[in-house]
Amino acid sequence: MATAMVLGTQWGDEGKGKIVDYLAQKADVVIRSQGGNNAGHTVVADGQSFALRLLPSGILFSEKTCIIGNGVVVNPEVLLEEIDGMVKKGVTISKLEVSTRAHVIMPYHIRIDEEDEKLRGDDKIGTTKNGIGPCYADKINRVGIRIGDLMDRDVFYQKLKTNLELKNRLFATYYNCEGFDFEEIFTKYTALAERIRPYVKDTEYSANQYIKEGKKVLFEGAQATMLDLDHGTYPFVTSSNPTAGGACVGSGVGPRMMSNIIGVVKAYTTRVGAGPFPAEQNNKIGEYLRETGHEFGTVTGRSRRCGWFDSVVVRYAAMLNSLDYLAITRLDILDGLDTINICKGYMYKGIELKEYPESLKVLQDVEPVYEELPGWKTDISGCKSYDELPENARYYVERISQLVGVPLGIVSVGPDRSQTMVLHDVF
Ligand code: GDP
Ligand code: IMO
Ligand code: MG
Repeated sequence: MATAMVLGTQWGDEGKGKIVDYLAQKADVVIRSQGGNNAGHTVVADGQSFALRLLPSGILFSEKTCIIGNGVVVNPEVLLEEIDGMVKKGVTISKLEVSTRAHVIMPYHIRIDEEDEKLRGDDKIGTTKNGIGPCYADKINRVGIRIGDLMDRDVFYQKLKTNLELKNRLFATYYNCEGFDFEEIFTKYTALAERIRPYVKDTEYSANQYIKEGKKVLFEGAQATMLDLDHGTYPFVTSSNPTAGGACVGSGVGPRMMSNIIGVVKAYTTRVGAGPFPAEQNNKIGEYLRETGHEFGTVTGRSRRCGWFDSVVVRYAAMLNSLDYLAITRLDILDGLDTINICKGYMYKGIELKEYPESLKVLQDVEPVYEELPGWKTDISGCKSYDELPENARYYVERISQLVGVPLGIVSVGPDRSQTMVLHDVF
């Protein structure tokens, strides 16, 4: 079976886009199966940088099929903007498929997201305010509008009417803010629908057909394990399942078809938005990582919280996703450090925890236990093979692999395709 899956093991922004783009060179199909334009995947190809939000990171290769699966929430305006932006940069978009079953992010979802964040006050999640949570909430509540509905004028008319009646009542009485005009949204979205129509398909059938034909299919995760709605640091999570199981549900491809599950691991840790982060460094180390690594969000521009690599987190991700390999990224960002810490476990009330605790109260009080490793103090961004890496850099990634219990598959030392060392080929 020629499938592979790339997913985030920490709190996002591990470099999934880069790894997917790299593996896409040999793939035939790339599928996104969850999340929406809360994702920001930066891909650097031939010196040009592309910021992708909804389009799968295989899109830079015009001959590859790219699928936006049923589990994704689609803002049609953002999708079309992104397509137009790509075309302007010279990318040909000819083999894009958008699932009929994907849910549509409507303007009222974005407003609810903004208003809910305001109401949460100090407890705010720090969402991307793209309407992701409210759109998934409507999906779960069985009142959502799907791409297939948008394709049928009468069905869309009816569903929008029902939704807006309720949402406008909420805006007036609960949120105390302005609502939306039915005609305005209906006219705008029926026009957007016509532009999307050529891409719309029952993608679960095409995805399974591609696999049956022996095509190489790559599943691209957005967000990450610790932002998973079930397994992450709830409620400081996103509203989808970025874990391996989520890729099955969100694409309509069964678990037996999945192989080569690759967990992307940043060589240190970052997090955007609120929530627990035991290995966070609110000090010179954190500043060093933020400045050296330009750790600012692709979508929101927010500065990312930074800390040491946390093996408790990635071990948890390895278990939840049954990882086959690790793809360690951004190792080059650590080049200037004399020593580097790895979090091995957490101390809680005098006991060392090796497992990630569920309780936010416990997480608030844990003290990370660190192992100090020597730095390599060498620019590694030009290293072409694993053997060329300084011994201490090799020791660092091997120690991560050992603590997590998953073999190394890829080591990345820069954003470009050429700065990628493959220790285990998947296709
Ligand atoms: P994603 O959301 O997981 O796709 O990650 P982002 O794109 O949000 O953030 C990762 C950033 O790191 C992007 O700007 C990438 O171009 C960049 N990147 C990926 N791998 C490496 C690497 O090994 N070294 C460096 N310096 N940058 C990298
Ligand atoms: P990629 O795919 C990092 C975070 C937000 C917030 C929480 C909920 O680029 O790794 P949401 O808008 O999803 O309801 O926000 O999740 N978040 C991300 N953090 N990378 C992402 O995507 C993220 N997508 C959502 O910052 O804390
Ligand atoms: Mg990102």
